[in-house]
Amino acid sequence: MKVKFIQNQISINIWGNLQKTNEYKEIHHILNKYYIIYLLLIYLQKLKPLHHIQDIYYRKAKEDQFRARSAYKLLQIDDSFQIFRQVERAIDLCAAPGSWSQVLVKKLTEKNFLPSESCRIVSVDLQEMAPLDHVTQIQGDITKKATVDEILKKFNNQRADIIVCDGAPDVTGFHDIDYYIQSQLIVAALNICLMTLRDNGIFVAKIFKGSDIKLLYSQFKLFFNQVYFMKPKSSRASSVEYFIICLQYTPKIQTQDFHLYTFLKEIEQAEKQKQETIDQEIEKEQSKYYKFITCGDLSGFDEN
Ligand SMILES: C[S@@+](CC[C@H](N)C(=O)[O-])C[C@H]1O[C@@H](n2cnc3c(N)ncnc32)[C@H](O)[C@@H]1O
Repeated sequence: MKVKFIQNQISINIWGNLQKTNEYKEIHHILNKYYIIYLLLIYLQKLKPLHHIQDIYYRKAKEDQFRARSAYKLLQIDDSFQIFRQVERAIDLCAAPGSWSQVLVKKLTEKNFLPSESCRIVSVDLQEMAPLDHVTQIQGDITKKATVDEILKKFNNQRADIIVCDGAPDVTGFHDIDYYIQSQLIVAALNICLMTLRDNGIFVAKIFKGSDIKLLYSQFKLFFNQVYFMKPKSSRASSVEYFIICLQYTPKIQTQDFHLYTFLKEIEQAEKQKQETIDQEIEKEQSKYYKFITCGDLSGFDEN
């Protein structure tokens, strides 16, 4: 790096031959000091994108040959809920790059359902995914009916024991739009459950913080006996994601000629009305028993 010290019309090449007069030795020293700080800053900046190397799950995923650290989220959900206990056939929605599909392969292999003549795992994503042994891939949109038909075709019209969905839209940065698209993925995944999940089957899906938990709970409770929410340890604290785990699929509605989206909207309306009635009741009760009555006057001191 060449530095021109114009005021004194002397050229100083701090990395080459510096003219070593006493006056300029000092300047050389200062410039060198700042250049070292400059180099250090560049070095630290280069280190920043490497912060994931310190991430234990990132390193572990490399060791265990998972395609993404997300694999541990599904494994930790399984540790808590034993979701793979009775699984022979599985659907992975929004599967790319494929670490959840790898977990499905691992679990079905442990149970000796793999290798198998028939299709056991179907993975769907908008994006192309590198091939995985024992996984039948569909490149498609989970919100499209054609994708559901294709899944059923791959399974020979047999139903799945578990459906997992780790779907995340491309974030636009506009909270309302992102939230809306994410909720559309959940509705699409639930729609796929209605058409492809067996009775008592299991559904696991990613949801975002800010979702109306109470509403989601009451909507999913109409289809599953047990509904839980969980944030696995491997999900970064800074991430707004967490997961809904639905056990024992027992739809309490007929799914023929059924429009799920309208139905969910109706539940939302009903929930709102229920909440309004509760709020009104509470208000009524409070006005009955907890009326505050002002008393005393300014003629004396209060006790306190
Ligand atoms: C977080 S990644 C999934 C990671 C995956 N579970 C894994 O472990 O490797 C989210 C995926 O959702 C997919 N996706 C988003 N919208 C979709 C849609 N409508 N249909 C299918 N896939 C979708 C994206 O293409 C992306 O690959």
